[in-house]
Amino acid sequence: MAPIAISPDPTPAPAVSPSATHSLSSVTTTYDDTLRFYLNGTRVTIDNIDPEITLLEYLRGIGLTGTKLGCAEGGCGACTVVVSQYNPTTKKIYHASVNACLAPLVSVDGKHVITVEGIGNTKRPHPAQERIAKGNGSQCGFCTPGIVMSLYALLRNNPDAPSEHEIEEAFDGNLCRCTGYRPILDAAQTFSNKAGCGKATSNGGGGCCMEKNGGEGGGCCKNGFKDDQPIKRFTPPGFIEYNPDTELIFPPALRKHEFKPLAFGNKRKKWYRPVTMEQLLEIKSVYPSAKIIGGSTETQIEIKFKAMQYSASVFVGDIPELRQYSFKDDHLEIGGNVVLTDLEAIVQEAAKHYGPEKGQVFT
Ligand code: FES
Ligand code: FES
Repeated sequence: MAPIAISPDPTPAPAVSPSATHSLSSVTTTYDDTLRFYLNGTRVTIDNIDPEITLLEYLRGIGLTGTKLGCAEGGCGACTVVVSQYNPTTKKIYHASVNACLAPLVSVDGKHVITVEGIGNTKRPHPAQERIAKGNGSQCGFCTPGIVMSLYALLRNNPDAPSEHEIEEAFDGNLCRCTGYRPILDAAQTFSNKAGCGKATSNGGGGCCMEKNGGEGGGCCKNGFKDDQPIKRFTPPGFIEYNPDTELIFPPALRKHEFKPLAFGNKRKKWYRPVTMEQLLEIKSVYPSAKIIGGSTETQIEIKFKAMQYSASVFVGDIPELRQYSFKDDHLEIGGNVVLTDLEAIVQEAAKHYGPEKGQVFT
């Protein structure tokens, strides 16, 4: 579906009704209205935030047009950027590939946004950019920045080399209309721990560029390795070596970032970003119809294509309590905003924790 423009209501109603305004301002009076984050390694502070723009609109508006607008509804991946953040669920830094067309700007406070411009350029390409280009993984190039950033996120999260399967999964949010996926996957598989030369078995290859006898072995460049040897990333001849140590670091200042409650907006729309459950409950108690937003994957589509208006939105993605989980004696407790990627790891951990009997799948 093509994006459509929705013309603003000429006489907008106040974002929040007068009675609720009074109550809301009483609970949000100490909230901050400044957004602080890092963009490609540089600190950014924004005071006058337009509450209606997405991360993609902001990036393209400041000239970072490498990130593309395709479907505007989270379906094509052309707008993929990486948002690095401390993950309160896993207690580690996580590099999330994010659809910037859906992400509200408020969601990047305290995080590091990395766009395709931040990882390399034509003179000094990132290995992911170089291998997609040299591997003929790009024709018109419209999808390519998004594909590169999905691959980049995977590499950042798996510095010891991702598996063939992880590489395939990394692209499940990216569409390409003209190249075809084979060369894209072949190029990406050069980073895998198994098929480092781009002849992945999952892709129909034999697993090695040196193989003979129609893929039946004999001559594989890795045959000399013993099982107890650590897997070493293989760099195909003619390609830049991928060295995780040279990547953009997670800004040390962000490790100490103080997540303050935020409130900003105009007459048409207001954003609130509570950082504790107590603050969230306070807002909901004085303004029950405020729209709760986690990933914004549904709400942004409603706003763009169904002309829905949410005058007061509450971003709950930075409330650590909602990202926790714990194993109880007879049940598993999972926060309402635990992301699906983490949930996958949690249920695997839970299956081990509870054992084969309790951990089995209901049928
Ligand atoms: Fe298609 Fe964002 S533009 S997913
Ligand atoms: Fe044209 Fe992918 S290279 S859409």
